[in-house]
Amino acid sequence: MPPEKDVLGPVLKGDRVTLRPPQEEDLPLFCEWFSRPEVTRTLLTRFPPSLEAEREWFARTTASRNDVVWVIAAADRAVGISGIHQIEWINRTAITGTLIGDPADWGHGFGSEATRLRTGFAFDELNLERLETSSLAHNVGMHRALEKVGYTRIGTRRHFHYSRGQWYDAVMFELLREDYAAKSGT
Ligand SMILES: CC(C)(COP(=O)(O)OP(=O)(O)OC[C@H]1O[C@@H](n2cnc3c(N)ncnc32)[C@H](O)[C@@H]1OP(=O)(O)O)[C@@H](O)C(=O)NCCC(=O)NCCS
Repeated sequence: MPPEKDVLGPVLKGDRVTLRPPQEEDLPLFCEWFSRPEVTRTLLTRFPPSLEAEREWFARTTASRNDVVWVIAAADRAVGISGIHQIEWINRTAITGTLIGDPADWGHGFGSEATRLRTGFAFDELNLERLETSSLAHNVGMHRALEKVGYTRIGTRRHFHYSRGQWYDAVMFELLREDYAAKSGT
């Protein structure tokens, strides 16, 4: 059953990162992240949001009963965002996504741990059955983080995204509860 209202991600502590609920004060930083070409290179986002647009997104997300969103914090510093979206409470499916906003913070295991914590929450707390995500073909770091928790590739959407004068394929991934259990030994 969906929660009554306001679904923000509760605090989940890992070794390198903590997932915590986003706050209004985080929004200017989100705008900065989405304005960086190195970051949007592997995203479908083309235009950085205004602060106003980000405030609207935050209000929508806070009110949504079908999205759970976290800030990824490392040593109390916001380094990214992660979420479970479009939750279907009867089929128990959802779409997941992650972003680490500063390239200087890439490669420190933050994305992997955030993916692991979020995945545990999706199955062990929300009782979901199937997660899906898609990621542009050149986003090898994301693919690796997904495969480490058990996501498998289920197909390729060819020429899915046009950017910087060329087409990019998108790789689709899925993770069933049973795959996660086999991988995590739960
Ligand atoms: C994709 C992203 C979330 C990965 O986060 P991260 O914190 O850098 O990931 P990690 O440090 O946990 O690395 C994940 C794995 O990929 C590997 N990896 C990372 N970048 C890599 C690269 N360029 N080539 C090969 N392997 C890479 C890491 O070594 C690690 O594997 P390991 O644990 O076996 O060593 C981050 O780069 C990002 O936010 N990019 C911009 C936004 C984006 O693309 N979001 C995802 C949209 S689908």
